[in-house]
Amino acid sequence: RNLLHKQLTGERIIVVSNREPYIHSKKGDGIEVHRPASGLVTAVEPVMRACSGTWIAHGSGSADRMVTDRHDRVAVPPDTPEYTLRRIWLTKEEENGYYYGFANEGLWPLCHIAHVRPIFRSSDWEQYREVNQRFADAVVREAASDDPVVMVQDYHFALLPGMIRRALPKATVITFWHIPWPNPESFGICPWREELLEGMLGSTILGFHTPFHRKNFLETVDRYLETRIEHESSTISRGGSLTMVESYPISIQWPPPWQGRQPPVAQCREELRRELGAGPEHLVGIGVDRLDYTKGILERFRAVEKAIEQHPELSGRFTFVQIAAPSRSALDDYQAFDAQVHALAQRVNQRFSSEGWQPILLKAEHHEPEVVNRYYRGADVCIVTSLHDGMNLVAKEFVAARDDEQGVLVLSQFTGAAHEMHEALIVNPYHIEQTAEAILRALTMPPFEQRERMRSMRALVRDFNVYRWAGRMLLDAARVRQREKLSARIR
Ligand code: F6P
Repeated sequence: RNLLHKQLTGERIIVVSNREPYIHSKKGDGIEVHRPASGLVTAVEPVMRACSGTWIAHGSGSADRMVTDRHDRVAVPPDTPEYTLRRIWLTKEEENGYYYGFANEGLWPLCHIAHVRPIFRSSDWEQYREVNQRFADAVVREAASDDPVVMVQDYHFALLPGMIRRALPKATVITFWHIPWPNPESFGICPWREELLEGMLGSTILGFHTPFHRKNFLETVDRYLETRIEHESSTISRGGSLTMVESYPISIQWPPPWQGRQPPVAQCREELRRELGAGPEHLVGIGVDRLDYTKGILERFRAVEKAIEQHPELSGRFTFVQIAAPSRSALDDYQAFDAQVHALAQRVNQRFSSEGWQPILLKAEHHEPEVVNRYYRGADVCIVTSLHDGMNLVAKEFVAARDDEQGVLVLSQFTGAAHEMHEALIVNPYHIEQTAEAILRALTMPPFEQRERMRSMRALVRDFNVYRWAGRMLLDAARVRQREKLSARIR
C-alpha cells in the first residue's frame, strides 16, 4: 500500500466504473450510506484510498434529485475522506439501454458461459455508446493535466478507452476487464464486435484475471481486426498506438480492513449458531453472492440436498446459510432466477426439515461487508459454485477472514480463483454428487488438514493482494509509455 502511495504521489488517478463505492440514499430526514455487493468495489476501493484522486461512477442512490444533486461530488469514505467520488446521473432511458440492456443482457451473458442467450438491441447499443461518451467527457473535465492516469473498470466501458485516447492522446489508460473473456467464436456473435475491440485497444494496459482470458482476447483481436500482435511482449499495435494485454489476477486488501477490531472467531461461531437456534457442535456452511444466474446457487442447493440425502447423519446437524444480495432486479432473467432460488430452498427445506431445524437459510437481502465477515468467521465451510466467474473474491474474503486458520473452502473450477487457490476443494458445480461429497469432506476434515490448507491460501492472498495487482499494472503502463516515447524519438 505504501509503495503504491509513493509511486503515485503527485499523480491524480482517475478511476471510472459503473458501480459506485458508496451509495447515499435518503432515509427519513437523513442520509444513509451503504457499500454495494460488488467484487469490483471490494478490490478497487482500497487502491483508491491508497492513491487518492477521483472516482467517477454512475450515481445509484436515492432517486430524489434534492438529495442527489447535493451529492454530485462527495469526499469519501464518509468517516475518513481520502478521495473524491464524482457521480454521473443517468436518465431512466440511459440506464435501461446502457446498464440493464447492452451491459447486462448483452455483454454479461456473452462473456460468461452460463448458457443464457445474450440479447443485442441497437437501441441499447446507442445508449451504451452515448453513456460511454458522457463518461469520457467527465474524464476530460476531471483531468488536471493532458496526461492523466485513468483506470477504466469493466465491461460497462469497452468504448471508453478509445474515446479517452482521442481526447487525451497522452493519457495512460489502464483498463481491467473484471469478467471472463470468451473464445473468438462466442464473442463473434456480437453485432458490434469490431467497435468494442477497437474501443478497448485505446488502452495502454488491458488486464484480465487469467492467462486463459488474455489468450482468448488476443485470438479474438487476431480474428476480427487488422493489427500487429507481438506474442512475446504480449502487445498489440494498431494505428501507431500500443496496448499491452496481460493477466493480473485481482485480489483483496491485506491486511483485511477489520483486522484488530473484529469479534473473536468463537464469538462469531456462537452468534451464528444462536441465530440458527442451534448448539455449539452444529455445522454451518456459508455462501455469499449477488442473486445472479452465473453464481451456481441452484446447483449449490442441490448439492446440499444431495449431501443430506446421502449422509442422513447431517440431518439436524448441518445448516447452509446463503446470503444473496438482490441484483439487477429490473431484468426478467434475474426475477426468474430469484423465484427459482426461493422455490428450490423451500422445496429442500420442506423435504428435510424437522423440529426447529431446516437445512437452508436463505437471506436474500443486502448485508454490509463487516457483517458478512462475521458469517465467514462463524462458518465451517464456505461454498463457491459459480458456473463461470472472472475471479470470485468471496473465496479470498473467506480465507482472509480466517485468522484462526480453520474452515474449508469448496471452490468451483470455473472461477479465476481456482487457478490460484489449489488448497481449496475444487469441484465442478454441474456435478452435484461431486460437490455433495466435497461438502461432506469439508465438514469432516481434521483440524490439522484445515490449518495446512488455510495457511497456504492465506499466504497467497497476503502476498498477492490488491495493492500488488494495481502496482503491477501501473509499472507495466510506465514501461509501455517509455517504449512509445523511445520509438517516437527514433521515428
Ligand atoms: O465484477 C463484475 C461485476 O459486474 C462488477 O462490474 C459489478 O460491480 C458487480 O459485478 C456487481 O454487479 P452490479 O454492479 O451490476 O450490481
